[in-house]
Amino acid sequence: MTAGPQVLRTRVELAAALGPHGTTTVRRAVVMTMGALHEGHLALVRTARDHADQVVVTIFVNPLQFGAGEDLDRYPRDLGRDVDLLAAAGADIVFAPEVGEVYPGGPPVVRVSAGVLGERLEGAVRPGHFDGVLTVVLKLLHLVHPDVALFGQKDAQQLMAVRQMVHDLDLDVEIVAVPTVRDHDGVALSSRNAYLDPEQRAAARALSRALAAGRAAAGAGLAAPRIRSAAMDVLAAEPAVVVDYLALVDASTADEVADDHQGPAVLAVAARLGATRLIDNVVLDLRGPAPEEDR
Ligand code: PAF
Repeated sequence: MTAGPQVLRTRVELAAALGPHGTTTVRRAVVMTMGALHEGHLALVRTARDHADQVVVTIFVNPLQFGAGEDLDRYPRDLGRDVDLLAAAGADIVFAPEVGEVYPGGPPVVRVSAGVLGERLEGAVRPGHFDGVLTVVLKLLHLVHPDVALFGQKDAQQLMAVRQMVHDLDLDVEIVAVPTVRDHDGVALSSRNAYLDPEQRAAARALSRALAAGRAAAGAGLAAPRIRSAAMDVLAAEPAVVVDYLALVDASTADEVADDHQGPAVLAVAARLGATRLIDNVVLDLRGPAPEEDR
């Protein structure tokens, strides 16, 4: 039987377990989560093991990144189950603070701004969301002092915002992206899938099918507008899916790419199934039509 991770609830306990910053040669990774863990999170933890000697997982449902009317109160929480999963995945330390531990003075007055990155796509629908994400990510980086932090490609815009913050604020941490983990039917794993009833769960397959259609269009050398419409046609055929956006964007700025764009781009979708909002994306390489002799 393997010993489980140390579970720490306060910043004092965390600091004691990690030891004074800068005094150890142990390479440390952090995986930040809001709990309700699934295979996608566990893939982050396993990948972290390949990048570091010590893996710290944070579990914290961050109120700052939830808007009014969002699912902060009903967000699934089960620390015991999460710790069991993390023991099997090989986490060394679980930091699971209460809200008052992370924000001891109440909601912080000074916050990180995601700037224009926080206004596009998810940010347009969830104003302030990325400011809340970046604020807690920065705080957790300061508390954990990792060498490397791992984030899922599933939250593509979050990944862009974190990378931009690391660049703009000169943070000394390596950011590693981990591919999206999908269910057997293509649906991207998400803690929010638990909210779907069976019909909505079946309809949710349209998101990954739409992205696959976009990928096929890109593979066939079609240009950006045809890639968007190939994906949109799939979504439009599923009446239970209400699309918030489908966008083909630059992988670092989240700006829509030009019609003649060539090179990497992210095809991103957000849609509602009843009261549940899901996001998904795929990274594409737009190369344009193959030259005549290559066909
Ligand atoms: O991706 C998430 O679960 C959250 O946005 C994160 C990075 C843990 C910050 O609260």
